[in-house]
Amino acid sequence: VHAHYGSEIGDMPRRPDGFAHGVKVVPAGEGSKDVDTWASVIEWLAVSGANRKDALVAVGGGVVGDLGGFVASTYNRGIDLVQVPTSLLAMVDASIGGKTGIDLGGKNKTGSFYHPKCVIADPCVLTTLGEREYIEGLGEVAKYAVLDQDFMTYIEGVSDYDIADRRMDVLGELVSRCVQMKSGYVQDDPYEQNKNGGRVLLNYGHTYGHAVEAVTGYNEYLHGEAVAIGMQFALLLSKDLNILTDDSLIERQTALLQRLRLPHEIDTSLLDPNTILPEMAKDKKNTEAGNAKVRFVLPKRVGEFAVEQVDAADITQLLISLSRK
Ligand SMILES: NC(=O)c1ccc[n+]([C@@H]2O[C@H](COP(=O)([O-])OP(=O)(O)OC[C@H]3O[C@@H](n4cnc5c(N)ncnc54)[C@H](O)[C@@H]3O)[C@@H](O)[C@H]2O)c1
Ligand SMILES: [Zn+2]
Repeated sequence: VHAHYGSEIGDMPRRPDGFAHGVKVVPAGEGSKDVDTWASVIEWLAVSGANRKDALVAVGGGVVGDLGGFVASTYNRGIDLVQVPTSLLAMVDASIGGKTGIDLGGKNKTGSFYHPKCVIADPCVLTTLGEREYIEGLGEVAKYAVLDQDFMTYIEGVSDYDIADRRMDVLGELVSRCVQMKSGYVQDDPYEQNKNGGRVLLNYGHTYGHAVEAVTGYNEYLHGEAVAIGMQFALLLSKDLNILTDDSLIERQTALLQRLRLPHEIDTSLLDPNTILPEMAKDKKNTEAGNAKVRFVLPKRVGEFAVEQVDAADITQLLISLSRK
């Protein structure tokens, strides 16, 4: 984002009261969520003489937000943090909720819960975001829509053209609704301790989605694309397990993902139980010790969900039946 907005930030004048700022740029991409980049930002703060009264402002997508948040939580045992998310995914998801971290020991394995003092999300910057990254962010937006009847109705009423064209009033509405929903869930259950509801519902589409990202080496699907695929899997699993009470959701969710130009079909390469199942079981969030079950957030209808420990055998059965289609 430095190429687009760096000069505006760099040109901010020193104020008469002595307020000063410096800018540290890190390379774009997930590779910057590593220990070397974390150390380089810490070093830069130290050399610049930053102290406990200073604040770190993380301007960028989810990568910069996660990295910047982790730096702020560790430098001087914690300095103030401001998140300025610039990607749709970071606006509706990564910048809220206080999860920070880097990929040391595995994806997001090293990190902290550390809330920003404030989040500034300006949808105007989304005009420069790449098309694929924009559509990816809509994957998380679609998840929020299935979680809330009112939001689902709203988004079904917006024209495809207005979404594709990134109309500012539409983006403002999408972002603010998602932010309100996420912050509501987070305030009710900040550390994801409620195992049957609360914040865990935001993991809809993520059990299978995370496994999709992992088995494809984190370089084939963007996170929001994997979430869309994961939502389709969870929905079909819910149908198989007779948890889904409103079958029309299958058509509705598929239509929504299609309209948003997100993946809505599950590629056969993602249906091998021998690779995908161990990946879901590996995720500590999903399994309980010594338990051959995987936790899924399963829809009953729009806005109504169950959190279930699903038998590995039931998951395998669905994977096999989908691969035969
Ligand atoms: N902390 C959380 O709760 C949470 C939640 C979801 C995802 N994440 C993390 O977020 C990361 C993914 O975030 P992302 O999808 O934003 O990816 P990203 O940060 O890599 O941004 C995607 C690309 O878009 C560019 N970009 C961002 N804003 C732009 C703008 N306005 N104009 C032009 N280019 C712009 C970035 O430089 C980058 O190249 C992952 O590391 C994921 O683990 C964290
Ligand atoms: Zn997500």
